Amino acid sequence: MNKLDAKEEILKLSEEINHHNHLYYVESNPEISDYDFDQLLNRLQDLEKQFPEFAFDYSPTKRVGGDITKKFETVVHRFPMLSLSNTYSEEEIEEWETRLKKLAEGELEYVCELKYDGVAIGIRYENGVLTRAVTRGDGTQGEDVTANVKTIRTIPLKLKGNFPNDFEIRGEIFMPLKSFQKLNEEREENGEALFANPRNTASGTLKMQDSKVVAERGLDSYLYGVYGNELNLLGHYEAVETASSWGFKVPQTEHRFIQKTNSIDGIMQFIHYWDKERHNLPFEIDGVVIKVNDYEQQRKLGFTAKSPRWAIAYKFKAERVETKLIEVTYQVGRTGSITPVANLTPIQLGGTTVKRASLHNSDQIEKLDLHDGDFVYVEKGGEIIPKIVGVNLDKRDASATKIHYIENCPECQTALVRKEGEANHYCPNEDGCPTQMKGKLEHFISRKALNVDGLGAETIDVLYDKGLVRNQADLYDLTFDQVVNLERMADKSANNLLLGLKASTNVPFERVLFAIGIRFVGETVAKKLAKHFKNIDALKAASFDDLVNVEEIGEKIAISVQHYFLNEEHLALIERLRAAGLQFEIVEKEGASNKLEGKAFVVSGVFTSFSRDEIKEVIESNGGKNVSSISSKTDFVVAGENMGPAKLKKASDLGITILSEDEFIQLLG
Ligand code: IVH
Repeated sequence: MNKLDAKEEILKLSEEINHHNHLYYVESNPEISDYDFDQLLNRLQDLEKQFPEFAFDYSPTKRVGGDITKKFETVVHRFPMLSLSNTYSEEEIEEWETRLKKLAEGELEYVCELKYDGVAIGIRYENGVLTRAVTRGDGTQGEDVTANVKTIRTIPLKLKGNFPNDFEIRGEIFMPLKSFQKLNEEREENGEALFANPRNTASGTLKMQDSKVVAERGLDSYLYGVYGNELNLLGHYEAVETASSWGFKVPQTEHRFIQKTNSIDGIMQFIHYWDKERHNLPFEIDGVVIKVNDYEQQRKLGFTAKSPRWAIAYKFKAERVETKLIEVTYQVGRTGSITPVANLTPIQLGGTTVKRASLHNSDQIEKLDLHDGDFVYVEKGGEIIPKIVGVNLDKRDASATKIHYIENCPECQTALVRKEGEANHYCPNEDGCPTQMKGKLEHFISRKALNVDGLGAETIDVLYDKGLVRNQADLYDLTFDQVVNLERMADKSANNLLLGLKASTNVPFERVLFAIGIRFVGETVAKKLAKHFKNIDALKAASFDDLVNVEEIGEKIAISVQHYFLNEEHLALIERLRAAGLQFEIVEKEGASNKLEGKAFVVSGVFTSFSRDEIKEVIESNGGKNVSSISSKTDFVVAGENMGPAKLKKASDLGITILSEDEFIQLLG
């Protein structure tokens, strides 16, 4: 292909992909299947590799991230980013409206909007191309987070329609509740501390150095303001509508996310509607914003020192109840992280009975200045369990003693440590603390790790408490007599347990690596490390630079891996596990390839030549991914006999390619 043709095709593909991206993410109305979309993207990626001179900044391939920002540059805002004056009182909204009527000339029209609970962003477009995205910062200057913002699918990289040559658009970046829950589920699985709420997570995510990680976190945005010198727009509502025609995701009238009104009644109706309905939104809002529509009137009303007179935010009071604190207890995770939990007198909140609330960390306890027997205010937000937001000091007993965060592990009494820059305390006795060791052993035998049949959490507890098993390697020294003498063990179950352990010696290296429980090495990271280093000795010998050079391995993981191998006990453990026959190197499977890279499969039904698990293994060893349920993100369904008709229908309705066993074999050649 010559350069001219390549450039032409790259431009055409970019446009086509941007179009489909917009349909999918902004309009939620896709026209092509995910598979066809990926084909277009792959083709574009290939061409950009061959002709890097045409890999433009606004290429949709930038969405997947990859650019690393070592230090976020400070940028002075061209138009200061002000905040809104806000109130929790309807009365004050009425007063504001009355005041405006006196100050403004002519009739007033208002635009009511949601107050998204996220992070403010200002994005500049020059000649229709996104050139810079800056956080609010102190309002005068913020940080350049362009590479990260480019990964957010609802923010166009290149505009369509009749846009101004140079302008800035402002809005809110937030983390939808679904993304937040998914992220915390993954963190829980990896033994990492959970994020407290979607807002802070969105803010932290936006400041991450690796834009690839940002791309995976599922941030979203709504845009609510256009700024520029020659915009030719008469008012705010028109600006939002017009921005939509340039390709932005803006609040929609049909969802009542934005509404025009010319009366205080209209404003109040909007407030009351959202005070109830906000609980059904897929993202969090903390109030509504009311703005004067007409730009000319806005200009005349002007600003106070910090905020415009023409806008005000009404903030919702979170649903809050008061209850008595019984005691603070401390949980120890398998990685040693300590979580303080408030145990409360049970109380109804938002339809459920609340008995416990998270206190997150010692700073939180300190900030609340908690005392024994305090009456505390509890609220429910995007958090998994409710949180304590304050103390009713009027009800505090004069003799109540202050609650101090524990200094020693509640399980093994080892002095706790708190690393610099981290909010959580840890019990450093990683190999001796019973709770941590039991947690590690349970993790070791769990389904995604060594998947030891015939052994469960209860037996682990008994084995540990009896002193028969103190670490993972001890499991392989268990004898039949030792096991059969345990309570509720019969010959058969004892045999099963030993057979299960024996079978676990065939589990591939990447799962063994996941199983040994290095902090921050979850399932995916273990796969990446195993694939790259091939065996445990190479991983052990890897320098910090070797580690961070592996795709998706950041500094935190690199430090944790190195730290793990510095411990003599860990080295001894690995040697014992190796002697017991566990896999510490990758076995290159026959027929392995990258043919199915990036493709998601659902395998269902019964097969003739292979078992379902074998098919799944083949998919993975050829770079594909197995997912459990059919969705628009699925690329292929491998259908065996007896696959349910409902599933088949769903797959064909979604336009997913359905493969028979033979067709699957053919696909792999
Ligand atoms: S307008 C000059 N509209 O609230 C006013 N702000 O304190 C510019 N926010 O930092 C802001 N939703 O991050 C506006 N629909 C909305 C908003 C909104 C959320 C945030 C924004 C800003 C803060 C104002």
